[in-house]
Amino acid sequence: MMNYDASYRNAFRWIILLTIAAPVFVFSQPAGDELLGSGSYDDFEKPKACGSCHTDFYMQWQQAMMSQAYTHAWDEIEYFKLAVPHAEKDEKVAGVKAGCNGCHTPLAFIAGDIPPPKPSENSRANEGVSCDVCHTITGFKGEEPFNFNFTIKPGRVKLGNREGTTSPHHETKQSEFTMSPDMCGTCHNEKSPYGVWVKSTQREWKAGPYATEGVRCQDCHMPKAEAKNAILSKPRKDVAQHLFHGAHSPSKLRGAVELRMHPDRRDVEPGEPVVISVQAFNHKAGHKIPSGSAEERQLWLTVIAYDANGKAYHLPVDKKDFPGEEYTISSNVLAYQDIGEIMDLPDFKGLPRDALPYEGDRVFRLPYFDPKGRMTIAQWNTASLGTDYRIGPRETKIETYTWNVPEDIPEGKVKVVAEIHYRRLVKSVGEFLSVPAKEMEPVLVNRTETWFEIVD
Ligand code: HEC
Ligand code: HEC
Ligand code: HEC
Ligand code: HEC
Ligand code: HEC
Repeated sequence: MMNYDASYRNAFRWIILLTIAAPVFVFSQPAGDELLGSGSYDDFEKPKACGSCHTDFYMQWQQAMMSQAYTHAWDEIEYFKLAVPHAEKDEKVAGVKAGCNGCHTPLAFIAGDIPPPKPSENSRANEGVSCDVCHTITGFKGEEPFNFNFTIKPGRVKLGNREGTTSPHHETKQSEFTMSPDMCGTCHNEKSPYGVWVKSTQREWKAGPYATEGVRCQDCHMPKAEAKNAILSKPRKDVAQHLFHGAHSPSKLRGAVELRMHPDRRDVEPGEPVVISVQAFNHKAGHKIPSGSAEERQLWLTVIAYDANGKAYHLPVDKKDFPGEEYTISSNVLAYQDIGEIMDLPDFKGLPRDALPYEGDRVFRLPYFDPKGRMTIAQWNTASLGTDYRIGPRETKIETYTWNVPEDIPEGKVKVVAEIHYRRLVKSVGEFLSVPAKEMEPVLVNRTETWFEIVD
């Protein structure tokens, strides 16, 4: 047992709690299942109460996805339209009916309120990942953090990153665990009921260069600035801003991958081949891009050449011939057939796999496969993974584009433009499930240009 808030009294309370909670152990995965039904909503304070003093943090949190982890439209749709019905008819995934909530609305999970009331009912499940959840997490159980295996002790003591702060409302205590990426990992690593890692953000970070250098999740997602912790406290030089900005923040995504490209020569004759190389460098993310919900994220590179008359030619990426490469080249073959089975739609043939503007573009992705080997966006229904072709932290991927320029191309300069875009949810899936269109809007991550000359 890993417990950073190491008081014997606390450990003893946990032994008692675990004993009481044992009969309601239903989630099929070895993780934070003991928490289910182990307490009540009233054990936790409302974020609004914290907000009366920590006003700025409250406003930041409200704007972040943490406050919307349960109420956000796509989460509600995926949970109530897919996960719950699936859990009710397939024994293997029965545990997710409760389990999704272990990370998305820990209060409802701890209260054993399963399924929680719908967001429209305005219950306390709507608080999502609240202040009092993160600030009373004491450690995790087991070998490594995943599947909400955190230990939590709600009450007067709020765990933080400083020593010796005082508050009129609560006690404070410095906690190594609150400051550690392991805390984030309890929710940002996930194993499916088939034992497959379907979220690995903390594991990717740990294997990468930032962990070695001691750059934590908090340093990039909760950057420090001169500010006040609470309305009545003194300003401090290094206050952790509660931004939690990620895939829902275009300014976080923009520039996360740098692009550069060059042709293999400057002078090209009509009818001759030219090879354009593009370098895509992940210089900003502490983990792979995309990370987290990789089953539904898309990061793709489009290269278009414009001749001297402005005519556009879309260039498909050169194949590298690695196993499973077909999943990394945009295509509209049908996929996601498990949605039809989950929703009882006998005539459902699947949806276009990528639904991107062009076929033939490189997609930096990790494909997830259902038990029948078809691509799925249901991470809980994932029995295996394909080749991981995402861009690792500080990794550079090189893509080439061999183009036999047409015989009739006009003389003069050819401009070549490369753009890399990010989309949170595959468009065909989002449209089919009536997810608000803003979830499928592409974000331009970066753009670069080069040129060569057509000569005779
Ligand atoms: C009555 C005002 C008030 C309320 C309500 C309040 N706090 Fe505080 N809190 C403070 C003050 C003041 C400090 C000390 C700030 C400082 O010294 O910079 C503090 C400190 C903290 C710290 C320690 C920060 C550190 O430096 O390590 C945490 C964590 C914290 N509060 C969380 C919460 C949470 C969670 C809630 C709601 C459950 C809450 N607070 C409600 C006033 C309040
Ligand atoms: C997802 C988890 C999470 C949530 C939600 C969260 N916090 Fe924090 N909070 C942290 C972490 C982690 C730190 C320490 C950051 C560090 O180590 O750099 C922190 C630090 C703080 C601090 C001390 C900041 C400093 O630099 O002195 C206060 C005060 C605080 N949080 C209050 C709140 C309040 C109030 C809310 C809700 C409006 C909230 N937190 C929501 C994780 C969270
Ligand atoms: C109790 C579980 C829990 C903990 C602990 C937690 N998170 Fe999260 N986090 C979530 C959930 C759930 C979401 C997804 C919210 C959504 O989009 O529905 C999320 C989303 C995010 C996002 C993406 C936001 C976006 O714009 O898409 C970032 C960044 C993030 N968390 C950072 C952190 C960091 C850093 C920590 C540790 C300090 C942390 N989280 C701890 C549950 C947690
Ligand atoms: C060096 C800075 C850095 C560090 C360290 C870092 N991140 Fe990120 N994170 C980013 C950037 C930049 C993005 C936006 C690009 C992207 O979506 O991958 C991001 C995106 C995310 C996302 C959204 C991913 C997606 O594509 O849906 C989550 C969730 C997240 N981070 C959580 C974490 C957690 C948890 C840790 C620690 C284990 C962490 N980050 C460490 C910079 C960082
Ligand atoms: C181990 C914790 C954990 C569990 C269990 C979990 N999630 Fe999540 N979920 C997260 C985190 C963290 C993110 C954010 C990842 C990112 O930003 O890439 C997320 C993201 C999502 C998103 C995408 C949100 C967006 O706005 O793009 C949906 C939808 C979702 N989860 C639904 C579910 C459903 C349904 C279940 C149960 C079958 C579930 N989750 C189980 C932690 C979890």
